[in-house]
Amino acid sequence: MENLDHLITESQADFAACDNTTALDDAKAKYLGKTGALTSALKGLGKLSAEERPKAGAVINVVKQSVEAALNSRREAILDAAQAKQLAGESLDITLPARAQSTGGLHPVTLTLQRIEQLFHSIGFDVATGPEIETDFYNFTALNIPENHPARAMHDTFYVDDDHVLRTHTSPVQVHYMEDVLKDNKTPPLKIIAPGRVYRVDSDATHSPMFHQVEGLWVDEDISFANLKGVVQDFLQKFFERDDLTVRFRPSFFPFTEPSAEMDMSWNGGWLEIGGCGMVHPEVFKHVNIDSEKYQGFAFGLGVERLAMLRYGVNDLRHFFNNDLRFLSQFSK
Ligand code: DAH
Repeated sequence: MENLDHLITESQADFAACDNTTALDDAKAKYLGKTGALTSALKGLGKLSAEERPKAGAVINVVKQSVEAALNSRREAILDAAQAKQLAGESLDITLPARAQSTGGLHPVTLTLQRIEQLFHSIGFDVATGPEIETDFYNFTALNIPENHPARAMHDTFYVDDDHVLRTHTSPVQVHYMEDVLKDNKTPPLKIIAPGRVYRVDSDATHSPMFHQVEGLWVDEDISFANLKGVVQDFLQKFFERDDLTVRFRPSFFPFTEPSAEMDMSWNGGWLEIGGCGMVHPEVFKHVNIDSEKYQGFAFGLGVERLAMLRYGVNDLRHFFNNDLRFLSQFSK
């Protein structure tokens, strides 16, 4: 029988020349496929005599095992190389600095509200809240706002239906609060601030259809305009951290206060309007059954965005509501 040993070296060389498993399968066919050299040799055994056959068969099998071993080891080498290449491509550099976790921060208006609440709290004011969708009664009537008042007009106010509006100011919280306190059979003194969102048909660099106010109310037996001035000036000085800051009052008109005034504060050598105020009108007390012969009170309303703009040096109110992270992230510490 023909010597088959050369097939071992030949197959090793063929397999070594393959760099992927498809090529390797093709090379395998040459030896172990249907018409491969070893398959043909095995088929040829039939022609041998019964004596020669086992010996020849054993010789072919030894060669076949060597070829198969060469094939398997090459296959493993190809797969290992492919995996090593893939791992190298995906390599992680564990010495790189970690990506920073980005955390949120509080909105500048929220920070301002927190500061306002904290300062008023320190002088004994509670924080009260009320609904943002108000009835006509609380937003207007109970505050002595007459039928023909401009705030009642459709072009100034967002009406939800005939009887409900998005509140145009935080003043209705005064009424809710006084009603609730009296329901609990409590009596003045009442000392609250009421911060919150308010809505008006208005939009430019210093007005937005939604903005924030903080209402103040102090009712007791001997409250005067002097108390109002003291409280507001003290608050503003602390808020802006400026002891030389002063306030002035200009006579004005609000239906729910008498007398009424606009509040200005000194700022860079001039005056800036920061809100309205006055002594609670007896009509308002009447709506909540407080005896206006016995009790007086002052009330005020401040614009929160206005205070935030001045404190942070922001020149356009719309920045607060554009959700631009370049702006907002400047306030998160
Ligand atoms: N509610 C008024 C407004 O939105 C502001 C205001 C004025 C509030 C006088 C008051 C006040 O409490 O006494 O324009």
